Amino acid sequence: MTNFSDVYEAVYQRGDLGGIDRRLPVNPLTDPPAGARPNSLAVEGGAFGDEGKGRVVDEVCGRMIGVRHQGVVYRWNGGANAGHTVIVGERRLALHQVPSGALFSGVTAVLGKGMVIHPGDLLAEIAEVRAIAGELPATLQVDEMAVLALDTHRALENVLKTWAEGGRGATGRGISPAYADVLFRHPLRVRDLSAADWQERLGRHYDLYAAFVGGLGGDLAAQPVVRLDGSPIPVGSKTEFLFRLGEQRAALQPFIHNVYGLIRELWADPAVPFIFEGAQAVGLDPRFGVYPDVTSSDPTFHGIVASTEGLIQTGDIAVRMATIKATYTSSVGTRRLPTMMPPDLAGRIREDAHEYGATTKRPRDIAFIDLPCLRFFAQVSGAKHLVLTHLDIAYPDVPVRVCTHYLDAQGRPAGYRPDQVTLDSVQAQYLDLPSWDGAAVRNVSRLDDLPDAALQYIAFLAGALGVTPLFGTTGPAREALIAWLPG
Ligand code: IMP
Repeated sequence: MTNFSDVYEAVYQRGDLGGIDRRLPVNPLTDPPAGARPNSLAVEGGAFGDEGKGRVVDEVCGRMIGVRHQGVVYRWNGGANAGHTVIVGERRLALHQVPSGALFSGVTAVLGKGMVIHPGDLLAEIAEVRAIAGELPATLQVDEMAVLALDTHRALENVLKTWAEGGRGATGRGISPAYADVLFRHPLRVRDLSAADWQERLGRHYDLYAAFVGGLGGDLAAQPVVRLDGSPIPVGSKTEFLFRLGEQRAALQPFIHNVYGLIRELWADPAVPFIFEGAQAVGLDPRFGVYPDVTSSDPTFHGIVASTEGLIQTGDIAVRMATIKATYTSSVGTRRLPTMMPPDLAGRIREDAHEYGATTKRPRDIAFIDLPCLRFFAQVSGAKHLVLTHLDIAYPDVPVRVCTHYLDAQGRPAGYRPDQVTLDSVQAQYLDLPSWDGAAVRNVSRLDDLPDAALQYIAFLAGALGVTPLFGTTGPAREALIAWLPG
C-alpha cells in the first residue's frame, strides 16, 4: 500500500511541480529509455473504459504518421465490443473493430492475433468508412491467427445471461464465448475462413453451439443476435449461417494475412512509427477488474506481447500511456466502487461531461479519483505515461476530492484489491485538493494557460501514480489539447 503524503508535501507544501509546468526536455519517442525502440507508442484505458482513447490515438497518429504517410497502427485486444468515435470532415464515425488510426493514409492497420473478429460487422464497418472517407485510407491487415467471434457466440452469450450473472452486462458481441473457445482449445481462427474445408469446420462449430444453446433451453437458429447497428437478426439454420459466412469470407479474403513476418520486419526499422491501440481498459481486465463487469481480453500493455507472439515486449515500447479522466472516474455496469460520488455532484459532472453510454445512452456512474485503484492499474499494466482527459471538468467552489487509502472493517489501512467483497467492506479516505475554474480552461491548448491549481493537481496525480503526463484534453474539440510531449 502506498502512502501518498510524500508526493502531497512535495507538491502542495514545497511547491515542487516535478517539471510538469513545462514540456518534457527530452522527447521519449526520439530519445527513448535504454532498450526501447524509438518511434513506438501504446495507448491503453487506465480506468474502467470510455476514457476517450480514440481521440488520443487520432492525435498521436497525426503527430507520428500524418506527415510521413507511413506507419503501423496495431490493435491488440477485444473486438466489436469497443466503440471509438472519430471525426471525418464534418461527420462522426463510430469504429469498433477497425483501429482509429486506419483513417490515416499510408498506415498499415493491423487487427492483431489478440482480437476476436466478427466478419460481418467488420465488413459493414469497412463499408461505412468507405462511404464517408471515399476509400479506406489505410491498408488493413487482419491477422489470420485472430479468433472468430460469430453469431453463434452472440447467441450463447444471450442465453447464458438467463443462467449466470457472468456475462449479464456484456455488450452482446459474443466476446467472452469467443475467447472461451481458446481456453476450451477449439477456437476458430480467421484463417479457418480461407481453408478449403471451411464449410466443414464452421459447420462443426455450428453443431457444437447448437448443442450448447439447446442444452441451456434455447434454439440456436431462432436466437436473435445484434448486427453492427444494434438491430437483431436470428442466427438462422446451419445452411443460412454458412451461406452468410460464404459471402463474407470472399469479401474478407484480401484483408487476411500472416502478419508475423511483416511486424518483425517493420519493427526492426526504427524509422517506421508504431502505434499500439488498446480497447477497453485495465479495470475491465478479468484479472484486475471486478466481476461480473469485466471483459475477456487483455487490455493491458502485456496483451501486446501475447498478440505479437513475443516479437514486442512491453519494455521495448518507448511510450506507454494510460488514459484517465483527470478529476473523476466513470463506470458502467453493476460494479460498486468505494469512491462513488454523492448524486448531486455526480449529476453535475454527468451533464457537463456528457457521461452517457455512447450506444446505450445509459447514465454512467461517477466516482471520485481513487489513487490506490489507479496506481494498482498503472502498475499491473506496465504504464509509464499518462493522458489526462476532461481537465475542464472542475469547479472553483468544489475541491477535487481524491481517495488516498481505504480503512477496512476493523479500521486498519487497506489497499485496493480487485474483489467486490473486499471493496464493499472498506471505507474510502479522502484528501481535498484546491480546484480551478473548468470553464476558464475549456479549449486551452497551452500549458501556460493552465491555472496553478490545475498544474499542482496534475503534478500530484502524476507523482501519486508514478507516471509522466504527456497529453491533457480541455474539451471535445480536436484543438482542445495540451501536450507535454515535445514536437
Ligand atoms: P464484453 O466485453 O461484451 O464481454 O462485456 C463485458 C463487460 O465489459 C461489460 O460490463 C461491458 O459493459 C464492459 N465493456 C466492454 N467494452 C467496454 C468499453 O469499451 N467501455 C466500457 N465498458 C466496456
